[in-house]
Amino acid sequence: MTKQAHYQGLIERYRDRLPVSKDTPVISLNEGDTPLVRLHNIPRDIDKDVELYVKFDGQNPTGSFKDRGMTMAVSKAAEKGAKAIVCASTGNTSAAAAAYAARAGMTAFVLIPEGKIPMGKLAQAIAHGAVVLQIRGNFDDGMRLVKEVADEAPVEIVNSINPFRLQGQKTGAFEIVEALGTAPDYHCIPVGNAGNISGYWIGYSEACGHNTRSCTLCNGQCPYLDNPMTDKRPVMVGYQAAGAAPFMRGEPVSQPETVATAIRIGNPQSWDLAKAAVSESNGWFDEVSDEELLATQSLLATREGIFCEPASAVSVCGALRDIQSGQIPEGSVVTCTVTGHGLKDTATAIAGKEVVNTVEAELLSVKEAILSHL
Ligand code: F0G
Repeated sequence: MTKQAHYQGLIERYRDRLPVSKDTPVISLNEGDTPLVRLHNIPRDIDKDVELYVKFDGQNPTGSFKDRGMTMAVSKAAEKGAKAIVCASTGNTSAAAAAYAARAGMTAFVLIPEGKIPMGKLAQAIAHGAVVLQIRGNFDDGMRLVKEVADEAPVEIVNSINPFRLQGQKTGAFEIVEALGTAPDYHCIPVGNAGNISGYWIGYSEACGHNTRSCTLCNGQCPYLDNPMTDKRPVMVGYQAAGAAPFMRGEPVSQPETVATAIRIGNPQSWDLAKAAVSESNGWFDEVSDEELLATQSLLATREGIFCEPASAVSVCGALRDIQSGQIPEGSVVTCTVTGHGLKDTATAIAGKEVVNTVEAELLSVKEAILSHL
């Protein structure tokens, strides 16, 4: 039997479309190549004729989309000879930074907001040996401190202000274009620090060889003009949690608050890139309440078998509302990035739910319990 080609992560997969050379040490956990899952039950339930897909990036090695950016950021840090990396995080970036630093033999310093990180994410940072600095402040405070400390200590920032992060994250768009054979009509995505929406827009823009000022590393000189993967770009729709929706307020929010702790962010770093993505694509921003996003998290789990974390449900939540109102018309092909796995935050997933039925260890009790649910 001949050996099958072995998928080796997104740097090897998209080497010709990423700023790497043969001298770049590739620090990878075989991230990317995540499933694009078509939703069947939910569109039927709401009686809408849409082709609705979830790009389930919670199936990356550390359970979130951050691995796409982190393989690039850490590989480029290794190329520079960096010994340590630093990030502020609501939990997923720190998990990815910790894992990729372990792989690279570097030290990861992660600044997380005290008491606002789900246990799964904290466990990842600890398990991978990161130095965890719990700060008495929120993500935005952490971000400010990371930028300040990088001037004073030999540490490489791996937040999405590091342009290599967005280069990695753009590959999500490439995978969608490849899977569909073209770009979708609408791409819906949760927005926190606004790196991912910016990365996707770079990816979709490059996929169709379109000159764009959003493409920071090529300065509007897209290298793929002669080598497009598709001929169109989607409308980009960015959804935020209502208590942390600076793009809806038109300015930073000083005390962001939401159950979706991953996007509890008031001062997004990629403000201009995200605004450009939405305006260049004729898209929009919108907000969803905590109640709505939790209901969608539950809907995805119970109707489609997709268990995501609360922040990730925001894309599908917003998309469903806009599909129902007609803002996203029937007949559209819609993709939603689902950014992180539900196992990251099990406490929120089961809060307030009647979870377990305790029964006697005897046939009668078990049979009665089963029949009472049928
Ligand atoms: N969804 C999840 C699960 C996230 O962890 C994040 C960001 C986002 C969406 C928003 O993406 O920031 O690119 O707009 N998490 C960061 C972190 C901030 O530290 O893990 P974004």
